[in-house]
Amino acid sequence: MKLVDNFNRIHDYIRISLIDKCDLKCIYCNPTNSFAHFDSNNAILSYEELYQLIKILVRDLEVKKVRFTGGEPLIRKDILKFFRIIASLKHKYDFEIGITTNGTQLIEKLESLYQFGVDRLNISLDTLSKSKCIVITGKDYFDQTLASIHKAMSIGFKSVKVNAVIMKNINDDELNSFVDYFKDYPITLRFIEYMPFTGNQWDDSKFMSWEEMKTEIDSKYLLAAIRSDGKVSKDYFVKGTNLKIGFISSISNHFCDSCNRLRITASGRMKNCLFSSASNVSLKKYLSDKSISDENIAEIIKNSLQKKWFKHPSVDELVQLKQNNMMSIGG
Ligand code: 5AD
Repeated sequence: MKLVDNFNRIHDYIRISLIDKCDLKCIYCNPTNSFAHFDSNNAILSYEELYQLIKILVRDLEVKKVRFTGGEPLIRKDILKFFRIIASLKHKYDFEIGITTNGTQLIEKLESLYQFGVDRLNISLDTLSKSKCIVITGKDYFDQTLASIHKAMSIGFKSVKVNAVIMKNINDDELNSFVDYFKDYPITLRFIEYMPFTGNQWDDSKFMSWEEMKTEIDSKYLLAAIRSDGKVSKDYFVKGTNLKIGFISSISNHFCDSCNRLRITASGRMKNCLFSSASNVSLKKYLSDKSISDENIAEIIKNSLQKKWFKHPSVDELVQLKQNNMMSIGG
C-alpha cells in the first residue's frame, strides 16, 4: 500500500525528528532556545518505537527514503546504537537513509554512520567565517562543522550536501565565496530561502529570493540547469567545477505540487507539511499499545495524510502561525 494523499501525491520520503533539542541557537531557527521543549509534553519516541515505525513505513507503506532530523539528531544519547539497529532494517527492506545535521558532533561518528548504511548527509553551514558563525549559531563549533564536512566528503557517502540559509545583510555576501571554497569538491551546495517559523524572529527585510541568489552567482560563474521536475530544489552545475548547487525556494516559488514528504515529530506526531502544526495524531500512543497491529498503524498514518493541504499558506499567513517552530522537525 502506497502512501497517497488526496491530490495523488505519493509519499515515499519520510523525515523523522529524533530529538527536539539542539546544541546551537541559530538566529533563523531557535534564537532564544525557548522552544527546546515545544514538542515534549509527550516523551519522544523510544528507539524501539522508532524501529517499529520505520519497519511499518518501509515494509508496509513502500517508503523509499527516510531522513533523520532534529533538533540536532546526533546529540541523542546512544545514537550510534540506533543507527546500527536501523542498518539491520535496511538490509531487509531496501531504502535510503539520510541525516540532516549541524555537524558539531559528527566527525567522530562518520565512519560508523557510513558502515551502518547512511547514504546521505546534509550538513548545515551558513558562513565560511568563524566569527560570523558564532554570531549566527550562538556557539563556537565552526571548526568542528567544517572538519566534518571535509571528512564526510572523503568517506564515500552517496551524497553530501552543505545547507546554507541565506539572509540579507548577514551572509548574502558569501554566495560566491561558498562556490569558490567548494568548487573542487564533488558535493552539492544548497542555498535555502529564509523561512518564517514561530519563534525565529522573522524579519522580511532579511529575506532573499532564490532568483536574487542566482543572479549573484551568475555574475561570477556559468551555471547549467539540471532538469529537476518534481524536485524541491532548482539545481545547477557550476561549469568548470565539480560542484552542483541547488536553491530551495519554499517561499518565493513553492514546490507543493510535487511534494512527496511527510514529517514525524520527535514525539511521534504526524506533520503533513513543514508549515503545518503537528497533528493530534500521536503515533506514540499506538506504537506503545501492543494490542494495535502494524496494519492498523499503517492505516492511521495513511488516514492522517488525507488531511494534507494542497499547498502551504503564504508568507503573510505563515508569520501569523503560533504553533510552528523548526526545533521539533529540523527542516
Ligand atoms: N529558514 C530556512 N531554513 C531553515 N532551517 C532552519 N530554520 C530555517 C529557516 N527559518 C534549516 C537549517 C537546516 C535545516 C535543518 O533547516 O538551515 O539546514
